[in-house]
Amino acid sequence: MAKVTIQALDNAPYVVKGETELLDGQGNVIKTEKELHLCRCGLTKNAPDCDGSHQGKYQNEVRAK
Ligand code: FES
Repeated sequence: MAKVTIQALDNAPYVVKGETELLDGQGNVIKTEKELHLCRCGLTKNAPDCDGSHQGKYQNEVRAK
């Protein structure tokens, strides 16, 4: 199985890299992609995808401990 990585960009979406199936709340496939940009700010109008609405309105930086 190929490795999938998820990066929490600073003040921006999660970027998922690697062949990934995105499922809805009932387990149905929404789409299969090699790279996803998933909203984590809650402001997108195109959930679950980031639509850029976070810009200048969301601050969250995740760091390894
Ligand atoms: S992270 Fe980009 S719109 Fe939410």
